[in-house]
Amino acid sequence: MNNKEIVAKAIFEVVKEDLSLETVTQLLENPKSVDHGDVAFPAFSLAKVYRKAPQQIAADLAEKIAGTDFEKIEVVGPYLNFFMNKKMVSQAVIGQIAKEKGHYGDSSIGGKGNVPIDMSSPNIAKPISMGHLRSTVIGNSIAFILEKIGYTPIRINHLGDWGTQFGKLIVGYKKWGSEEAVKTAPITELLRLYVQFHEEAETQPELEEEARAWFKKLEEGDVEATELWQWFRTESLKEFDKIYSMLEVSFDSYNGEAFYNDKMDEIVTMLEEKHLLQENQGAEIVDLSAYELNPALIKKSDGATLYITRDLAAAVYRKRNYDFAKSIYVVGNEQSNHFKQLKAVLNELGFDWSKDMHHVPFGLITQGGKKLSTRKGKIVLLEEVLNEAVELANNQIMEKNPDLPDREEVARQVGIGSVIFHDLKNDRLNNFDFVLEEVVRFEGETGPYVQYTHARAMSILRKANFTIDETKEYALDDKESWEVVKLLQKFPDIVLQAAEKYEPSVIAKHAIQVAQAFNKYYAHVKILAEDEQKESRLALVYAMATIIKEDLRLLGLHAPNEM
Ligand code: ARG
Repeated sequence: MNNKEIVAKAIFEVVKEDLSLETVTQLLENPKSVDHGDVAFPAFSLAKVYRKAPQQIAADLAEKIAGTDFEKIEVVGPYLNFFMNKKMVSQAVIGQIAKEKGHYGDSSIGGKGNVPIDMSSPNIAKPISMGHLRSTVIGNSIAFILEKIGYTPIRINHLGDWGTQFGKLIVGYKKWGSEEAVKTAPITELLRLYVQFHEEAETQPELEEEARAWFKKLEEGDVEATELWQWFRTESLKEFDKIYSMLEVSFDSYNGEAFYNDKMDEIVTMLEEKHLLQENQGAEIVDLSAYELNPALIKKSDGATLYITRDLAAAVYRKRNYDFAKSIYVVGNEQSNHFKQLKAVLNELGFDWSKDMHHVPFGLITQGGKKLSTRKGKIVLLEEVLNEAVELANNQIMEKNPDLPDREEVARQVGIGSVIFHDLKNDRLNNFDFVLEEVVRFEGETGPYVQYTHARAMSILRKANFTIDETKEYALDDKESWEVVKLLQKFPDIVLQAAEKYEPSVIAKHAIQVAQAFNKYYAHVKILAEDEQKESRLALVYAMATIIKEDLRLLGLHAPNEM
């Protein structure tokens, strides 16, 4: 039980006749300062019921509330300030964590329901952008968070493996490319061909026509075109997989846009049967003015299908194949309109499950305040960024702890982790600037700082030769430990909040708070002093380390035991 629940129950016992437990719970407040206790109840809400002055009501209540749950109940004007019994709460929280370990905060709310998560989804023959990185790490974390509350996440990489760009690539490859160059550095070479295509097409517009013709061949299943397409896809995926393995993210499906090529006719037929398709200058559209949205373009005048047509087929496929409880799309904010249209068209088709689809948008990563673009070939190569982060982490570990066993692996966990943490610590809709040196710092609100705090806690436990005993009772009542205990107690609620908002930053912020509270504790309290509370203090260190590690796991980071 959390503190609010304990207080609500105690008040409810007294006011049962007049207020419901729910109403009491809703009225409770978090005091602004610790001097005002842990939970506050404003009594003026009862003035009407009791026809008394709020101050009097508060005083009466304070007298009637019994039990050992509170150290004291203070009446301040119309407010009742509850000070929790620290011993009882800390004993319950530490005890529960000792028993449940990493499973503290688990729940079965999701009822094992399937949740496909559309994430990462880069485009073949182009580098993975910072935006795709965000989608990858946010999606991966949401998958862990939903899994913790009982859902079954399904990570889907909806690859951008279809579209007119393949016509351009084939033309570029045939004119200026070589097999060897593609094999050596697939993405770099394919990007070079793509960029060259655009440069040359500025003076030779007939290239565009050639590209269209090749794409048409591809759509018709021409052998040469299909083989080239397949090859570009395989080579690109090999490169993407390097990054996924660095991030330790894996997918349950790589069904990309091309997978839906033979599944769109059915959608178009459904739209026709429901008389939803309208002709507009030769193109087929669905009018969405009822939703205050632009019309959805389903088929171009040359019969080519579009991004949204494939997403319609994908949504229907996911419902049939996974019978999802909800379906999530982790895609940049700039595509918000697309996902509104997608849901609206599905709703028009009578699919009431479209309400279970959620677009989870996020902001941009910028450099020097500017958006990063791939069009002109100016790109930040993610692999290089990750490698550099590992190197920076390694340098810092060399300085602090040159004899660390397993240093390379720890540097990898810290370096990669720092990039992931930096991405996840801010509300996902915020834009943020990327400066690698800041990201990998061991101080401040960074991944390495949180990991370092965990490692420090583990080192204290090692030094003390401590092992937790679930049958023992550990309790603390000093105000330094109380700050840590409260944060640990909150963890299950934090997980629920993160899941409800699809917001990993809620977890990251909690991890930072726990780390800060613990470091303060460490600075003020002699943990290893030989007195009768030593075991309890160590148990708190154990509980803290367990929760930080779980916070980090939910974000997709390791928590090394030493660093
Ligand atoms: N490939 C797309 C892009 O890079 C993202 C795809 C997102 N997923 C989807 N189902 N539309 O912009």
